[in-house]
Amino acid sequence: MTASAARRCLTVVLAAGEGTRMRSNLPKVLHKAAGRTLLGHVLAAAQEAGSDATAVVVGPGREDVAAEAARVAPGARTFVQAERRGTAHAVLAAREAIRDDYDDVLIVYGDTPLIRPETLRSLRAPLAHGASVVVLGFEARDPTGYGRLISRGESLVAIREEKDASDEERAIRLSNGGLMAIAGGRALELLEKIGDRNAKGEFYLTDIVEVAVMSGLAVAVEAAPEADVQGVNDRSQLAVAEAEFQSRLRAKAMSGGATLVAPETVFLSHDTALGRDVLVEPNVVFGPGVTVGDGAVIHAFCHLEGADIGPDVSVGPFARLRPGATLATGARVGNFVEVKNAEVGEGAKLNHLAYVGDASVGPRANLGAGTVTCNYDGIAKHRTTIGADVFIGTNSSLVAPVTIGDGAYVGTGSVVTDDVPPDALAIARARQVTKPGRAARLKAAFRARKGA
Ligand code: UD1
Ligand code: MG
Repeated sequence: MTASAARRCLTVVLAAGEGTRMRSNLPKVLHKAAGRTLLGHVLAAAQEAGSDATAVVVGPGREDVAAEAARVAPGARTFVQAERRGTAHAVLAAREAIRDDYDDVLIVYGDTPLIRPETLRSLRAPLAHGASVVVLGFEARDPTGYGRLISRGESLVAIREEKDASDEERAIRLSNGGLMAIAGGRALELLEKIGDRNAKGEFYLTDIVEVAVMSGLAVAVEAAPEADVQGVNDRSQLAVAEAEFQSRLRAKAMSGGATLVAPETVFLSHDTALGRDVLVEPNVVFGPGVTVGDGAVIHAFCHLEGADIGPDVSVGPFARLRPGATLATGARVGNFVEVKNAEVGEGAKLNHLAYVGDASVGPRANLGAGTVTCNYDGIAKHRTTIGADVFIGTNSSLVAPVTIGDGAYVGTGSVVTDDVPPDALAIARARQVTKPGRAARLKAAFRARKGA
């Protein structure tokens, strides 16, 4: 166990920002990237970094943000910052949590979703070796707008906000990522010494550095890649964050043994789980909650969400798997097939143009082209149960609730409204009428009418 893993850690997430530049009815931290809210990414990173408790600081009336925090990090406490008076003021909104004797207090921003657990772990590490404040620094390509790290010799002595900085200080590229780790035993005392004498008249968290230095306490800087601390303030930056998540997720999928033929065209979610030797063809979208077993093939242009795909399954091209689709080993779901809330048994085939919803399909069953489970009567949903080794003829409608027993056979073009017992043959369509010579006479009559 590492020193920091043994230490008790509180994470304070600042999420009281208005996010006005998003031009959205949704609070900024509830916008999504890689299938998860920005807040969700930050909370998950903190948990993976070994944080024991979470305090989320939200703006007034933001029950939606509080609910998302509770969903992603059960047990998270929410605190309201009634007025926006700066980052230190926001942290102090969580005073009651900070008071609870943690070894480490980690401060993160709800709109900085790309922060990785390993970066948070290294941010905490110096606390175990006597530092009272650790600042996450990075070399900014363009430092405009960031606080600059002011050092004397080897030591950090202050963080100067852009608005308060001299020209000389503005030339510094080493910038404040905004995230910090503070020794829990000192946190309240240091935060409460921060004043509001600066260009914005706010309580700046960054001033904690000067406060600590004046008290003779050790301050450390941990370096991070710029991508980790990139914030999301508008839709363009949201797209930049999405792109960064996608490149991380694609790399992770490939290093785990999946082949992505054209990785830049495959879109993954934060929780997409691809097995070994999975092959993903171009232009596939994975929504949240998809697992794919070893050796499965996802052909081009599929859209998958909330689906559990077994080993050696073949999906697509042009298939849609919706939440609750569960495909057992070796099942085949072909082109223009939609599956929702349905279990498809081992080796079953749904090869062409079908809709299978609220259903179970037994092993080795074969559903012909155009098979449709009619699951909705306009008021309620009903289930269709298809047994093992069933054969459903092309263009059949199965009107739920209905059960097709093991080994049964449904004739092409049937509309099945009654249960079919095992091994029975059901034909539910009008009988064919054939009239010899009648087509020729009909055509002659039509031609005569046109000529007249
Ligand atoms: C802050 C840092 C700056 C750093 C930059 C990194 C301060 C004073 N400055 O500046 O050094 O380079 O982040 O991105 O800390 N918030 C609240 N309540 C408030 C104010 C802010 O909850 O009263 C939240 C915001 O929602 C946001 C975070 O704190 O999540 C940072 O606030 P923001 O206004 O973006 O600070 P910056 O000016 O970017
Ligand atoms: Mg900011």
